Amino acid sequence: MSHTTQPPVKVLFVCLGNICRSPTAHAVFEHCVAAQGLSERIQVDSCGTGDWHIGRAPDRRAIAAAATRGYQLQHLRARQVAPGDFDQFDYILAMDNSNLKDLQAMRPAGFTGHLGLFLAFGGDAEREVPDPYYGGDEGFDHVLDLIEAASGGLLAEIRGAHQR
Ligand code: 4NP
Repeated sequence: MSHTTQPPVKVLFVCLGNICRSPTAHAVFEHCVAAQGLSERIQVDSCGTGDWHIGRAPDRRAIAAAATRGYQLQHLRARQVAPGDFDQFDYILAMDNSNLKDLQAMRPAGFTGHLGLFLAFGGDAEREVPDPYYGGDEGFDHVLDLIEAASGGLLAEIRGAHQR
């Protein structure tokens, strides 16, 4: 059987507002997927646990920091996580422990995918992507460092687990 007949693996990045961390992860990971020619086989999305920024573009600081490294974020629009996301996604990856706790409370009994911290796939000691919203510009660079480091590990895991 050909690989191309398999449904795509679907990955969802989740933070609080869906305007800083998870759209950054969305764009960076999508870039990694495309660079390996896997855009047809791995689909990427992001959302927030909160509803404050629904319909908005990412934070201008997140857009600017990502652009300095060649990632485009400005087309993304915030949405809130929904129960149906657990039917759709194979990997639901939280940016911090608070996001993870909120997601665990929503998790249906029948969910067979992976729900966990995104940085579990990174090689660093840091386990959470810190919320940069109330800090300075350097916080957005640090977010990018952590996300770039974990994206390679996540892609290797998916390729191994799903023969992508
Ligand atoms: P994010 O950052 O969760 O990385 O998108 C935040 C954005 C907005 C707020 C908090 C965090 N807020 O409180 O509005």
